[in-house]
Order: sequence, then C-alpha cells, then structure tokens
Amino acid sequence: MTGILRAAPAAGEPANEAYWLLVRRQFPLEDGLLYFNAANVCPASRAVLDRYAQFERDFQSNPSFQNREKYAPMRTQARGKVARLINASPGEIAFTRNTSESNCTIVKGLDLKAGDEILVADHNHPSNRQSWQIRAKREGLVVKSIPLPTPAPGRDAIISAFERAITPKTRVLGLTHVTNVTGLQFPVKEIAEIGHRHGLWVHVDGAQSFGALQIDVKALGCDSYSASTHKWLMGPLEAGILYVRSERMNEVWPSIVTAGWRDNLNDSLKLEVFGQQDDPRMAGLDAALDFVSLIGPRNIESRLRWIATYLKEQIRELPVELKTNMEPELCGGVVKFATGAKSVKQVYDVLWERHRIAIAKTDSGDAAGLRFSPHIYNTKEDVDRAVKAVKSVVV
Ligand SMILES: Cc1ncc(COP(=O)(O)O)c(C=O)c1O
Repeated sequence: MTGILRAAPAAGEPANEAYWLLVRRQFPLEDGLLYFNAANVCPASRAVLDRYAQFERDFQSNPSFQNREKYAPMRTQARGKVARLINASPGEIAFTRNTSESNCTIVKGLDLKAGDEILVADHNHPSNRQSWQIRAKREGLVVKSIPLPTPAPGRDAIISAFERAITPKTRVLGLTHVTNVTGLQFPVKEIAEIGHRHGLWVHVDGAQSFGALQIDVKALGCDSYSASTHKWLMGPLEAGILYVRSERMNEVWPSIVTAGWRDNLNDSLKLEVFGQQDDPRMAGLDAALDFVSLIGPRNIESRLRWIATYLKEQIRELPVELKTNMEPELCGGVVKFATGAKSVKQVYDVLWERHRIAIAKTDSGDAAGLRFSPHIYNTKEDVDRAVKAVKSVVV
C-alpha cells in the first residue's frame, strides 16, 4: 500500500488533498476521531505497527540470545537512518527512551560547579527546566529563565533577550526548538552562535521539531539535540534520540551505567546502555524512518505548515486569541489559542464530548488555551470540521 504514496500524482504537494488522503489511509485511526495532538503522541502508520508487531511476536516466541542477534544490525541500520535524517554521523546518535531522558542525560551529564549559570526559557519543558533547577539545588548552580510574551516578539527580540542574559558565569543554554506551550519556534541557530562565542554548551530540545521540520543539527549549530520517536516521527512509543556533537562527546558523563557499558568516551553508545530494552521497537523505528523518507521530510514539513496555517487563518476569524505566531520562521506545527469569553475547560470538554476532537489544553497562566497540533494524517476536512466545532462553542 505504501508504494502508492511514491507513485501518486503530485505526490507531496502541500495542498494536494487527494495525495494526503492516501497518506491518511495508512493510519488505522478510529472512524470519527479528529486527532490533533501530535505534540503529545502521534499514531503510528500501519507499516510501523505491522513491523513492530511482527518482531514483538518473533521475540516473544523465541527470546533466546541467538534469535535476538538480529537486533544489533537493525539498531545500527536505524542509527544510520536517524543520523542521515538530521545530518549527523551515527556515532553522534544515542537511543534513549524519550526526549525527557535525552534532556536529563545532558542536564546530569555535564561537568558544572557551584555558581555556574544555566540559561533556559519559561516555556521550556520541565525536563529541560525543572531538571536543571533540581540539579542546581543540589550543587549550587544558578538557573535563569527568560520570560517570553505570547505571541512572542520578533526573532531579533528573542535573540537579544538571550544575549542580554548571558553573563561571565553562564555555562549552558538549554533551548527549545519549537515549544509545546505556544508553538513558538526559536531562532536556535542565531542563539547558538552567540552561545558559542561565549564558550557555552548549547542544548536543543527537539521534541516538537524532529519528524516535523527538516532538521540539520550542524546548521542549527547545537552541541546536543533531543527528541522522541513517538511524536512527529510517528514511530514507536518509548523511544528517543540524543544527538551529541562528536567533538564534545567526551564532555558528557553517562547517567546510567549497567551491564554492557564500555568506557567509549567518544561514542554515543556510552549514553544508551540502560539494561534490558524493548529490542523490537528498533524494527518499528526503522519502519517509521522508512515511512518518513518515502513521503519526504520536505513534503512533511510543507504539508504540516500548510495545514497549521490553514487552521490558524480560520481561528483568527473567531473571537479567540491566537497565541501562536504566524511568521513561518517563528512557528512549526503547534497551534495554540485562548478561548475568549468561554473557559478553556468548557470548550475542551464540548470538543471532546460532542465532536470527538482530541487536543490538549492549558488551564491557566499566560499560555492558557487549547492546543491543536495537526500532522500529515489530518485532512483539510478535519480542520474544517474542527473549526466549525470551535465556532459553535465560542461564538
Ligand atoms: C518540548 C518538549 N520537550 C520534552 C517533552 C517530553 O517528551 P517525552 O514525554 O516524550 O519525553 C515534550 C513533550 O511533550 C515536549 O513538548
């Protein structure tokens, strides 16, 4: 079935609904469900599910060491594909369980001393903010967090907010590529350049960009980049990646050391030994990487930008407040809006109970609102139905 995707006319053009309907059919999503929560968990395509199920069955029917030998080359193959996808080399990619673990590997793994400063932003995920604060409490580090209004000011204002906050004591920039809170895309490349001028470690949380946007870690200029495969990559659950730039690999200490660990200081393998693992997930991951490359990362990015923009343009016409920027360089696939005169919970509940629209919400604070994160399995009709449903509650 997936072969049709390659052969389809005008394959991949962002507004070619016939093609994207074919893509949609690759996902066994429940009938009637309007799933707009890619920023949390993405459904896997049939190709991924079938491959994972096949190997899970095989594993469970014969868990001998001999039968499991096949997973080492599979892991190597998947590592090579991840590396190619983000312009890294295989020795720079570690497999983890999710973005949280990847972030925390960096948080715990860098050599820092009392008084050193870590710069983050208010909308960072807890695994790239609270985790720093916990370490700071134990070791006397200082975490400074940059507040950002919603929608965010322009790129220059964001870049200079980071530049101004750097002091002689700053050692690390804990950045987010695209936030899960408002969907802001940070000008990571420019901030990383400034960070490196000051000799800092630049970490980028890519949970909301990996699999969604075309990623080139060398162009981003970061020292480390983290992501989950169960989000925009549409891959297996509980799998993640951590990229660490080879020149700086020896600066990261492993957090978990157990059987199989070797003192390979300059290789990502030192960061991914955490005991017995779900080996068949590598089969699922390999299939997800093939699925993404079949459609094409460029086509995926342009479709999800197209559909997120289509959604935002309609939401803007309603009496609600869009929290996500419209400028392409300041957003990705995540769309957030406050619900005007109605409470967030009220709208959220109606959307689920009456319309089976699966989204996320933030109940309070400056980013309170509903979060829609459409992906390539969403059609134009899904968006039209969702907007109509939102309109029926907020107008
Ligand atoms: C920006 C960001 N970082 C990290 C995470 C954590 O991802 P996971 O739960 O897969 O570890 C999320 C989850 O939504 C996220 O949005």
